[in-house]
Amino acid sequence: MIRGPVEALFPPRQQRLRIDDYLTRELARAEERIVAGSATPTLDMESFRHELAGFDFATPRPLPELLDWSVGMLEHGIVHLTHPRYFGLFNPSPSFPAQCADRIVGSFNPQVASSATSPAAVALEAHVIRMVAQRAGLGALSGGHFTCGGSEANYTALLCALTRAHPKFAADGARAFPGAPVFYTSKECHRSWVKIAHQAGIGRSAARLVATDGSGRMSAAALTAAVAADLASGCVPVLIVASAGTTNAGMIDPLVECAELARRHALWYHVDAAWGGAMIASEKLRGVLNGLDQADSATIDAHKWFATTMGCGMFLVRDPAAVTAVFQVAASYMPSHQLSVDPYMNSAQWSRRFVGLRLFLSLASAGWAGQAAHIERAVEQTARIRQGLEASGWSIVNDSPCAVLNVVPPSALGTPGAVVERVLASGRAWVSLARFEERDVVRICVTHGETSDEDLSILLDALTRV
Ligand SMILES: Cc1ncc(COP(=O)(O)O)c(C=O)c1O
Repeated sequence: MIRGPVEALFPPRQQRLRIDDYLTRELARAEERIVAGSATPTLDMESFRHELAGFDFATPRPLPELLDWSVGMLEHGIVHLTHPRYFGLFNPSPSFPAQCADRIVGSFNPQVASSATSPAAVALEAHVIRMVAQRAGLGALSGGHFTCGGSEANYTALLCALTRAHPKFAADGARAFPGAPVFYTSKECHRSWVKIAHQAGIGRSAARLVATDGSGRMSAAALTAAVAADLASGCVPVLIVASAGTTNAGMIDPLVECAELARRHALWYHVDAAWGGAMIASEKLRGVLNGLDQADSATIDAHKWFATTMGCGMFLVRDPAAVTAVFQVAASYMPSHQLSVDPYMNSAQWSRRFVGLRLFLSLASAGWAGQAAHIERAVEQTARIRQGLEASGWSIVNDSPCAVLNVVPPSALGTPGAVVERVLASGRAWVSLARFEERDVVRICVTHGETSDEDLSILLDALTRV
């Protein structure tokens, strides 16, 4: 007789319910402690590594004990994105609807590779993507798919550009081209572009990092010159990437000029709006994205300013057939083969998690207006921090419409690095050290939907206290 299910992996229902209730309560308590405690890790990593070494997986331990241990590890061992004074690298404190979505999806665990396996989930993701792509201005026929993040979405853009640039790229790769394929983005771009050039087999030197204009935006003149020089030397330009919200400084490249140049040379035009793209939600702010509507494709991360849980990016494309041309494949073992529908034939991933429910529940429960209010609130709070710092003699060196400041302290407070070190050591807030136009700056980015006026005062105090 075959033994019953392994109880540690598949406990009886009653036991699961009990543990689940317990976990829900413990997480709520931990959340309260996190908000009142340190934004930065307090764990002694030496003893944690020692503790970890004790997990040899030879002797099973009771799950409730392990759950307590896991919550404690995260409570003390990470920078808290859920702390209202995390002014960080645009990793959000997740919205509650997105957290609910994660829980539902973890329970059903749908396989979203195929429309036969998960017809409702595939249709829902396609609907959300269409709504976002159309709101971004990519046209009535636009589409795309969810990705694990901005890097995957950016990678997809390069593959679309290469595939469209030469009919033999799909079969022969980079050697199909008569010269080295190259693409353009600014020196302030997210460094995923360098890895992507490597991954795609065209080499890191194919990523031309174009000069900026001194204010963190790609220089249209330098871009024009770079394309001309490459054409003259026999290279093959395939793609222009404009950033709409640079990672460090939230600057927006000249989107319309980039579009015009791409059109003139028949290049793919991609807007990396991983972070700033969420401003499409706001009627008040979306004007700063003028030119996004001319893109062939765009990256917008739901796990940035749309505040979903991590691992939820979007690749949006004007002509969805361009993505199918990259990813279509014959696989007899798959239960469906709908060319323009099945996610496994239209994206880099194969097995995939149902991440789209996170943005669906957020948008369905808050509406575009709710998302807009969330974004506008962050921008208003950024202006408040700016005023406070200027009043104390700080210089603001970026001029971004996004919720980020790059600031330099008055000399009495020390270098930007010294200020960041002091703030992190205090645990009162999390800010970071960054480079903007060749100088060190303190980077402060409003990411949390519940940051209060009092949190702003505490931040200002932490920044200015020696
Ligand atoms: C402008 C930009 N593009 C791409 C990325 C990469 O996104 P992800 O970390 O989701 O892969 C980021 C991340 O910060 C970004 O700011």
